[in-house]
Amino acid sequence: MESTQVSEKERIIYLREFLHEQNHKYYVLNSPVISDMEFDQLMHELQALEAAHPEMADVNSPTQRVGSDVNASFSQVRHNRPMLSLGNTYSRQEVADFYNRVCSDAGRSLDISCELKFDGTSISLIYEDGQLVRAATRGDGVVGDDVTRNVRTIPTVPLRLKGDYPQTLEMRGEILMPIAGFEELNKQRADIGEPAFANPRNAAAGSLKLQNSSLAAERPLMCMLYYVLTDERDFQTHYESLEAAKEWGFVISPNYKICHSLEEIYAFIDEWDVKRHDLPYDIDGIVLKVNDLAVREELGLTAKSPRWAVAYKFKAEQAHSRLLEVTFQVGRTGVVTPVANMEPVQLAGTVVKRASLHNLGIIRDLDLHVDDTVVIEKGGEIIPKIVGVDVEKRIDGARPVEFPSVCPVCGATLVRIEGEAAYYCPNYNGCAPQIVGRLTHFVERGAMDIEQLGDEKIELLFRHGLLKDIADFYTLTAEELLSLPGFQLKSANKAIEAIAESKKQPFERVLFAIGIRYVGATVAKRLASAFKNIDNLIAAPVEQLKAAQDIGEVIAQSVRTFFDKEENIQLINRLRDAGLQMSMKEQVLASDSLSGKQFVVSGVFDAISRDDLKALLASHGGKVVNSISGKTDYVVAGANMGPAKLEKAQKLGVSIIGYDDLLKMIETE
Ligand code: IVH
Repeated sequence: MESTQVSEKERIIYLREFLHEQNHKYYVLNSPVISDMEFDQLMHELQALEAAHPEMADVNSPTQRVGSDVNASFSQVRHNRPMLSLGNTYSRQEVADFYNRVCSDAGRSLDISCELKFDGTSISLIYEDGQLVRAATRGDGVVGDDVTRNVRTIPTVPLRLKGDYPQTLEMRGEILMPIAGFEELNKQRADIGEPAFANPRNAAAGSLKLQNSSLAAERPLMCMLYYVLTDERDFQTHYESLEAAKEWGFVISPNYKICHSLEEIYAFIDEWDVKRHDLPYDIDGIVLKVNDLAVREELGLTAKSPRWAVAYKFKAEQAHSRLLEVTFQVGRTGVVTPVANMEPVQLAGTVVKRASLHNLGIIRDLDLHVDDTVVIEKGGEIIPKIVGVDVEKRIDGARPVEFPSVCPVCGATLVRIEGEAAYYCPNYNGCAPQIVGRLTHFVERGAMDIEQLGDEKIELLFRHGLLKDIADFYTLTAEELLSLPGFQLKSANKAIEAIAESKKQPFERVLFAIGIRYVGATVAKRLASAFKNIDNLIAAPVEQLKAAQDIGEVIAQSVRTFFDKEENIQLINRLRDAGLQMSMKEQVLASDSLSGKQFVVSGVFDAISRDDLKALLASHGGKVVNSISGKTDYVVAGANMGPAKLEKAQKLGVSIIGYDDLLKMIETE
């Protein structure tokens, strides 16, 4: 017994080391040496071992990148040194002024480090003894928000350093959301009726401020570092410090260059003004920094920005075009989005003819009229937007763009939900784009994953009356498909096979695929694990729904409204009859030492995340609920247990135990 204990602990240490190394190879060096599957298997092994050995918990374990569910409101942290911003320049002349000034102050010609100006949100990372101990936003430059829990989930942020690193180190850089991930995120948000982020920068900043780090873990974020702060090294140049930081495990952009003259600086700027459009993330300019650190010291700082650095901002590329008309698109959830259709115009490498206007407010702000000459801009951002109107060119009698009062597709009167900018078409069962949207959502990857049926095929099936709702998928036959253009025997059979195969998708996927407003993939997982099966969920009143992890008023109301409709219950019954999974699979228990006992977890724990603690309780047969009642046996209390919970537990005579007490209970029972 003793010897297996030792070897499991050794295995934990080995796996942590190994997975840190693989993370670095995959995310930082871009050259993985093991397959994703092997990586996942080892990660699962480590998770299981850590659950069995809670005494070995470590916030910097590779498993902690998945985040945890504590609702933290952010505490403020004072930066060791203020986080300054940069002076901006917009022309070659201003760049020359900067270069000439620093050279003249230094009394010689200087090397300048030219770097990309990443369009994200700045971050300060503090490492002590090679361990990430704090991550903070810029805030007002003096005090920022402690976002360590969310930053820990970003794969390109090393949790532990490698090589010969300084004992105390601050790294500054930028948290970015790559454009592809940003677009996918907005698609997912539109899918569940949440407002889109305006650009990747806002999406990155918003992600760092998520209350729940397991949601942050799902955001496609990355981190680029560009500034090393430590008293323990005598670097002569910025270049040396960046090269050392690479050895410690940080991602340093390969796209920086030490320039020796103004001509080289101009060439770098010109090169990236073109190449920026090929980068997977947005940049909005170039940063020029004096390379020699002693000269930096001499040049010093102003109150707002260093004298040794400046930003050159790319001009947002603009074009003029004529607004032909504004059309109104209806999405799956009924939200109506205005889209500007313009005469095609060349802008920053692509032809632009459409731009989303997002909502009525934007049309009003621009005071848009049909036939207007509009100014379209593509900044660092890929997505074009209308930023203004050339009012002088407006023709007399031009008609203002009006938002329709009825659905442009089905004619139903639009409604506006209190407190939201958007208008909705309420015709859930009779409005074609909503129905087709629900059908395509149902088959998506992440939902039922029926790859063989793409958007066009679904549209076709809908138009021919073969698909009216999502349950119709399961009565389709190969003969029916063959009667339509675009299907051959092979493709028809494959589609039917894929539909049959989708019946194996787990309950949480089914719940997501049904398409309840505000129920995205994560919320579906939470609901599935809290309610276990569809009948519990259908029966749950709003208050009970809200008691589940991460489920607030809006989601709870939306779920309730959905199941209150008889037609939806019938739909669920048809899906159930078709053989879809309507309950969670039973778990194999580690022991039944806690069976029959009800637990509430409160507060935060150093040794274990709340998610892992709940999983530990469940794996020993304990029942975990969210609020204390007469039926509760124990409150497992960590730091910062709420006073209301404490009072309630005392009043009801519920035992309050610590994490160590719990471990003893599991061991001795
Ligand atoms: S150096 C004291 N380098 O731009 C100046 N900043 O407008 C330290 N930024 O707050 C910053 N890319 O968030 C530096 N390669 C880069 C950068 C960069 C983006 C951001 C940074 C800063 C802002 C100033």
